[in-house]
Amino acid sequence: MVKKNACVFISGQGSNLKNLINHSRDKGFPIRISLVICNNKLAKGIEYAKKFRIPYIFVDTQFKNYENKILYNLKKYNISFICLAGYMKIISKNLIKKYQNKIINIHPSLLPKYKGLNTFSRMLKKSEKKAGCTVHFVNEKLDSGNSIVKKTFFINTKDDEHILKKKTQLLEYKAFPEAIIKIFRNV
Ligand code: GRF
Repeated sequence: MVKKNACVFISGQGSNLKNLINHSRDKGFPIRISLVICNNKLAKGIEYAKKFRIPYIFVDTQFKNYENKILYNLKKYNISFICLAGYMKIISKNLIKKYQNKIINIHPSLLPKYKGLNTFSRMLKKSEKKAGCTVHFVNEKLDSGNSIVKKTFFINTKDDEHILKKKTQLLEYKAFPEAIIKIFRNV
């Protein structure tokens, strides 16, 4: 199997990045993480790129032409697939067009419910019974592209935001690789 070169975009902890790197080391996994793009100099996640000797770049999204740097590097590293893993910046229409159906995101709710930020506090306020995560394709509308994999759990009365996040992330570590395998199985 010829692995596709993939880039992971991050802004923070990078636990999903770490998980994807681990999976990508399996022979049968369809992608190789060839580049990490980060828009936060303080992101802990960048340590995983360093540890596994994966090329990484920082982009300053305050800077008007930051996207040129992204496009340049995606080309340089021959990237054909993009995973957004906690990247706290909306992807431009231009990039989405260039990578149509080749960009996926992981979101900490059962979409289409709770798009956007602060998902856990909003779920608790609404006394939701179920929570979970969704891996979906990225299109021009926030958290609205077709879903690929969803994973659900029942919210316990004692669950606070912190616990919901923990439980959700444990499911994310299964959902993200599963979604990637699913996509490439159908290609
Ligand atoms: C994940 O929980 C994901 O749902 C959300 O951002 C979080 C990133 O976590 N989009 P990490 O940086 O992968 O640890």
